Amino acid sequence: MEKHDSREDVWFVHDGKVYDGTKFLSAHPGGAESILMVGGQDATEEFNAIHSSKAKAMLADYMIGLIGNKAESKDDIAPERAPIDKQVIAVSRPSFSSCGLL
Ligand code: HEM
Repeated sequence: MEKHDSREDVWFVHDGKVYDGTKFLSAHPGGAESILMVGGQDATEEFNAIHSSKAKAMLADYMIGLIGNKAESKDDIAPERAPIDKQVIAVSRPSFSSCGLL
């Protein structure tokens, strides 16, 4: 997750979901830099503090997966407090087979 922090490939987490902001960088009203600053990180609080409900609705188009948690020890029980490198993500991308074309 934390590797996705470049202009060519920038992901961030919002409310337990993973978003790919790469395609939106150049169109973002807040500028590319503000998305790059949270690349590879959980941006839930910052995102909610800044954005309108319209912007929150736009997020859905960029979702690529969910943050999971391995819970390897008692310290890992609270997923929101676990560092991102202790978390696993399940990326779900649409495939042809899921639309019944294959
Ligand atoms: C794909 C994801 C994102 C979408 C769809 C999005 C959408 C928008 C929209 C529509 C605005 C205009 C103001 C509004 O309607 O709220 C905006 C402004 C802004 N966004 Fe985002 N945004 C995204 C990600 C982020 C992230 C991750 C950050 C950093 C935490 C961020 C920081 C900002 C800032 C600083 C502004 C400018 C606010 C201002 O000028 O008052 N955005 N964004």
